[in-house]
Amino acid sequence: MISGRSSTVSAIDFVRKMQGKSQAALIKASDHEQYVVKWMHGPRSTISVRLEALRNSVYQYLGLPVSTWTTIDIPDELLKAHPEMWISTPKGIIRPDAGIHFASRLVSPPGGAFYEFLPTRMFSRVTNRSDFWGAYAADVWTERFEIRQALFVPDEAPSSLRAIFIDHGSSFALLGSKEVARLTSCLYSDRLIYPESEMVTGLHDWIEHIRKNGHAAIAQAHDSLPPEWITSSVVEKENRLLDRIQDLRDIMFPSISRFSSAASRKTGRCCSVRVLLRAGTVL
Ligand SMILES: Nc1ncnc2c1ncn2[C@@H]1O[C@H](COP(=O)(O)OP(=O)(O)O)[C@@H](O)[C@H]1O
Ligand SMILES: [Mg+2]
Repeated sequence: MISGRSSTVSAIDFVRKMQGKSQAALIKASDHEQYVVKWMHGPRSTISVRLEALRNSVYQYLGLPVSTWTTIDIPDELLKAHPEMWISTPKGIIRPDAGIHFASRLVSPPGGAFYEFLPTRMFSRVTNRSDFWGAYAADVWTERFEIRQALFVPDEAPSSLRAIFIDHGSSFALLGSKEVARLTSCLYSDRLIYPESEMVTGLHDWIEHIRKNGHAAIAQAHDSLPPEWITSSVVEKENRLLDRIQDLRDIMFPSISRFSSAASRKTGRCCSVRVLLRAGTVL
């Protein structure tokens, strides 16, 4: 959903509960699609879920391969009929509120098979590994300081795979001025997925892409949100992201450029992901 708002779908049936912090539910909707639903007043804060929707639209606008999203209306009867989808809290089980929630459309390739955890030996089959640098740049820009998640679906060539990024939420909804999150916290869990030789050019290109298209991406993403989700906190975050565009190179590159020239002079190679990680943990 990137140009304007798409219409809200209605929940028809509960399929199963998903793993993860959000305690999301897989739900069948009125358009015959299935959605991973995150509760507006659930384990993640309401602002976190709204910002996930904003990021999801921003990433889509930037051309990253991401899951798409919409709003979903969950009726009270469905919640009453399926206590399995209720939320566990330290104080007990809580029934989510009926009404409008965030819904990520289930990535379901024809044939249905995809990988969420891909063995390292299969990384060479992934056709769009360089997009992981794009996801990293976008995550750092939008302060999504949470491990990067992707699904791998069959691509056109036999046995090739394509990564689709999911989960654009972050536990750090709004960072306070004194909080500094580690840039490395938004890397994919197996760092070998990143094509190391493309790191410096890949990141430079993505930073430039964000510099050129970031303003339009935020404007489009803003329009994709339901008006009642556009609170002062959301607008504050949008403005913060706009401000970060001009600083993005400095935010990401002191670490890299500091090491890259020395490293490449010595070894003739670009700086490694290990260097990025070491530099990232210093920030
Ligand atoms: N669009 C999607 N398509 C397929 N599976 C998804 C999608 N979004 C989420 N999932 C699955 O649901 C799980 C929980 O969703 P996620 O967005 O990671 O929520 P959280 O980590 O906040 O609980 C994921 O680990 C993944 O298995
Ligand atoms: Mg997750």
